[in-house]
Amino acid sequence: MTDRNGIRRWARQQRSALSPTEQDQAAKAAAQQALGLTELAGATTLALYLANDGELDPQPLLDALAGAGKTVLLPVLHPFVPGHLLFMRYQRGEAMTLNRFGIPEPQLDVRKVVPVSDIDVVFTPLVAFDDAGHRLGMGGGFYDRSLASYQGLVVGLAHDCQQHPALPVASWDKPLSLIVTPKGIKRFRS
Ligand SMILES: Nc1ncnc2c1ncn2[C@@H]1O[C@H](COP(=O)(O)OP(=O)(O)O)[C@@H](O)[C@H]1O
Ligand SMILES: [Mg+2]
Repeated sequence: MTDRNGIRRWARQQRSALSPTEQDQAAKAAAQQALGLTELAGATTLALYLANDGELDPQPLLDALAGAGKTVLLPVLHPFVPGHLLFMRYQRGEAMTLNRFGIPEPQLDVRKVVPVSDIDVVFTPLVAFDDAGHRLGMGGGFYDRSLASYQGLVVGLAHDCQQHPALPVASWDKPLSLIVTPKGIKRFRS
């Protein structure tokens, strides 16, 4: 099973087999792992996401970072550049809207958009990862495009069951700097 869509199906099945309790425990464990990262100490602006489709839920991490006074951002689909994301300052409880993929996102407000180059750490969702730091997403290439020239830290968040032995890699795939799972942290590049 080496084709990208076959791996996506396999990994999405793996993570969707987790119970709500397992998801909850995984989210808390991964938050603890991530909060131990030395790279986070100096970071002030961090992008996260809202969990969808069995993704590891960053909410406990988001709450902890926001509680520590950090600026947290969420992605929104770019309104006119196809395939790109914008990152917007987010405060818990603010009004959300469903985008065309049915994923909740903050309502677009240009005053809250932060340029990608001003973000210290981007936590990305993913469908599968491997032990070389390759990342497979849902197939839209949104993070690859939006982070193509990004120099900051790209941290994958995932369940351990989403690890694949060796992902096929494309020239445009943005590699992960490190990956955080409930079991631990793997570093690839800084
Ligand atoms: N930086 C980029 N520039 C142009 N097209 C891109 C870029 N990154 C990704 N794409 C396109 O997006 C599509 C999906 O990318 P893929 O890496 O398969 O998705 P994902 O990263 O979500 O798994 C590909 O067909 C690819 O051509
Ligand atoms: Mg990709």
